Amino acid sequence: MNPTDTPEWRKLEAHYAQVENLHLRDLFAADPNRVDALTLEAAGWRVDFSKNRLTGETLSLLQDLAVALKVPQEAAAMARGEKINRTENRAVMHMALRNLSGKPMMVDGQDVMPGVVAVVEKMTSFAHRVHEGRFLGFTGKKLKNIVNIGIGGSDLGPQMVYEALKFYSKRDLKVEFVSNIDGAHISEALVGLDPEETLFIVASKTFTTQETMTNAYSAKDWLLAALGEEKAVAQHFVALSTNLEAVQAFGIAKENVFEFWDWVGGRYSLTSAIGLSLVLGLGPEVFDALRAGFYAMDQHFLEAPMAENLPVNLALVGLWYNNFFGAQSVALLPYSQYLSRFPAYFQQGDMESNGKGTDRQGRPVNYQTGPIVWGEPGTGGQHAFYQLIHQGTKLIPCDFIGFVQPLNELGDHQEKLMANFFAQQKALAFGKGIKELKAESCPEELIPFKLFEGNRPSTSLLAAKLTPESLGALIALYEHKIFVQGILWNIYSFDQWGVELGKQLAKGILEDLKSGQVSPEQDASTAAQLNFYHQRSQPS
Ligand code: F6P
Repeated sequence: MNPTDTPEWRKLEAHYAQVENLHLRDLFAADPNRVDALTLEAAGWRVDFSKNRLTGETLSLLQDLAVALKVPQEAAAMARGEKINRTENRAVMHMALRNLSGKPMMVDGQDVMPGVVAVVEKMTSFAHRVHEGRFLGFTGKKLKNIVNIGIGGSDLGPQMVYEALKFYSKRDLKVEFVSNIDGAHISEALVGLDPEETLFIVASKTFTTQETMTNAYSAKDWLLAALGEEKAVAQHFVALSTNLEAVQAFGIAKENVFEFWDWVGGRYSLTSAIGLSLVLGLGPEVFDALRAGFYAMDQHFLEAPMAENLPVNLALVGLWYNNFFGAQSVALLPYSQYLSRFPAYFQQGDMESNGKGTDRQGRPVNYQTGPIVWGEPGTGGQHAFYQLIHQGTKLIPCDFIGFVQPLNELGDHQEKLMANFFAQQKALAFGKGIKELKAESCPEELIPFKLFEGNRPSTSLLAAKLTPESLGALIALYEHKIFVQGILWNIYSFDQWGVELGKQLAKGILEDLKSGQVSPEQDASTAAQLNFYHQRSQPS
């Protein structure tokens, strides 16, 4: 149903008119219990919503909307294996990948857990064989380099988690991620690698993705140029895929295929076989602990009441800015260099899921859906784009993500990092007024430029330490936030038809590029660019 047609939405509109101009300074002054009332905890995360432009009443009205739009029932339907990805007629069961309850999870009347457990065991045993030198390269050398070839969900998740948990990694293994079809990516990744010591993981749910297959064939050529015999492929290539036929056609041995299933969406596949680079590069124990973190947040999401439910409330606060304040984007700001790829990961997670303009009934929506997601780790971002967040004309809700204990004890780096984490949220919320500027003897003519109006919203997410468990819980928190928002916006979050047209057109253009022609179906701009390209590609 169109969320804006509900009585709950209308109540929110009326409420918005009352609170839109309230300043965070006044909200804090008015309610000494504000922080306690607006802070939630789950799976090791403390999430403080108090620096958001809302009151307890706002949250409760938003929660009423979630009840009216049946968020708990929809979450239960997902967990029951219903085909909630209707446009692809698929179940959405990434929670089964980290279901540690020992209880079955069903798709099409079948328990999927034995298959999930078997693949995890196969990954674990493979990693042990590689680590212990029982699975060797073709010439008998130990494998020291792992190159994951994939793109989108088959790249961003493992790459993000590998970076995030590098502290826990197997330092004697070099792990590279190759995704771009630009030959520069694989060429640079292979520089200095010894083919005899290199294992390629071809990660592709469909095993048809142009970028991945092109890179995989180039990797195969590189390997065979050094090792000569086709047989070497079996010792240097493994595949992660749902398309077993295509994998075998590539020449990868059956026993070197790590399977997953069509009920795992690409951008939700991190804890499936797609995580093999993590099992190898971080170790099976770390991968298990990561899954335990996911599981803890999954349980919280499925069981916690609405008012205490972290993913639900994160989703509702996001909707509040997106649909009432008209915010266009959300900034993810991890104060951890290890989380440098976290914003990029959730760019796909969020934007590919909720970047939809058609509702579940096939009608164009008449309200805003998924936001633009962006961000960089702090403190780097402070010296780059924070100017706009503090004083620009756009309202940008920010999620600050931080950890209490550092992984690297190094002088006072941690205190300085976290002082900035807290200070930025404070500056955004409370700003700096004329009085304070005058007290600092700011010249009159500079006051307008040095003024910080404040009232810029942020949410603080804090955990004790960056561990596999806390990371898993954090990822699951955002996954479920995305799910809840998709329900609230009445869109399908688990398909991605919007990526198809470009892929299809690229095929026709590729033919033109290879033949040196410009086909008549090209539009005037594309034709002119192709002509320029053809002219300049002639050696002069
Ligand atoms: O083009 C988008 C997409 O289909 C993503 O949804 C997916 O994560 C990515 O491509 C990679 O797909 P595959 O794992 O099938 O190669």
